Amino acid sequence: MPVIPSSACAKAILFGEHAVVYGEAAIALPISNLRVKALCEPGIGLPSGTVIIQVPNLGLDTSLQAMDRGHPIALAIRGTLEALEIQAQPSFCLRVNSNFPFKAGLGGSAALAVAISRSLSAFLGHPLNTDAVNCVAFQSEVAAHGSPSGIDNSVISLEAPLYYIKGEKNIILKPKKNLSFLIADTGLAKKTGEIVSEMARKTQTDLQVRAIMAEIGAIAKSGRYAFEEGNAKELGLLMDQNHALLSQLGLSCPELDKIVNSARQAGAYGAKLTGGGRGGCALMLIEQNQQETIHKKIIEAGAKQVFVFILAGSGA
Ligand code: PMV
Repeated sequence: MPVIPSSACAKAILFGEHAVVYGEAAIALPISNLRVKALCEPGIGLPSGTVIIQVPNLGLDTSLQAMDRGHPIALAIRGTLEALEIQAQPSFCLRVNSNFPFKAGLGGSAALAVAISRSLSAFLGHPLNTDAVNCVAFQSEVAAHGSPSGIDNSVISLEAPLYYIKGEKNIILKPKKNLSFLIADTGLAKKTGEIVSEMARKTQTDLQVRAIMAEIGAIAKSGRYAFEEGNAKELGLLMDQNHALLSQLGLSCPELDKIVNSARQAGAYGAKLTGGGRGGCALMLIEQNQQETIHKKIIEAGAKQVFVFILAGSGA
């Protein structure tokens, strides 16, 4: 069986996290330089059907057989086998590594599922197409987060900037100009599933929360044009507004606010939390020649790691 390393990118939500769960628009970006890599190798000498799973980033060294059936990784493996209509899997070793933190708002769980599905289906000689991988990853996301919007698995499996509305066709966006971003990790692991459930309760019972979700969706809608134009100034203003609304929902935290404020003071176009919130990462849109200055300031403000990513524009 072929041993083909596969990978999946991380993601950042530019506008619309949480609101996207309630049918509002959102924009998500692939981060191609941050990746989860997965490799399936024949399980030589292992008892028939045994699957060894090693994910050092999660401290996992186990087997599929010993894993809870509802574990997101077990679902990614079983979902892939089901999609390929394989009843009895061969023995194999699955090794997964990531160069970005999990539980940090960068779509780690979806990237894990996409990379596993790609690697396993290639190993079995029938690489699944993007739609099938996306479906497998969505099922795994349900186990990881409860009721995900589907934005993470979609942007990661397509690896393209997306204008996303739950249940509607994915719209791929292309900015005319390069956009430079920094991502700062607070080092605080966030619990997206719990936060999403809390927001679901509030959205049902509190009209003001529902109104804020709609305002966030409106930001994503107007941000679409600014994004396609590559209008960094406008995008930055909208990012700041989006962060303020997420803060009103209680989704920021002092660590995120400190980073976001220091990035703005150091000259970023805009800054906001990205992903589930109350920890995880902040996303900043910057002028490329200010990268070093802003990087230094956000480290001083407490960021544990900083990642750089540039979204290539079409130059149109
Ligand atoms: O924190 P992450 O990377 O899992 O992102 C979650 C995004 C949410 O909008 C909060 C949830 C969702 O399913 O869309």
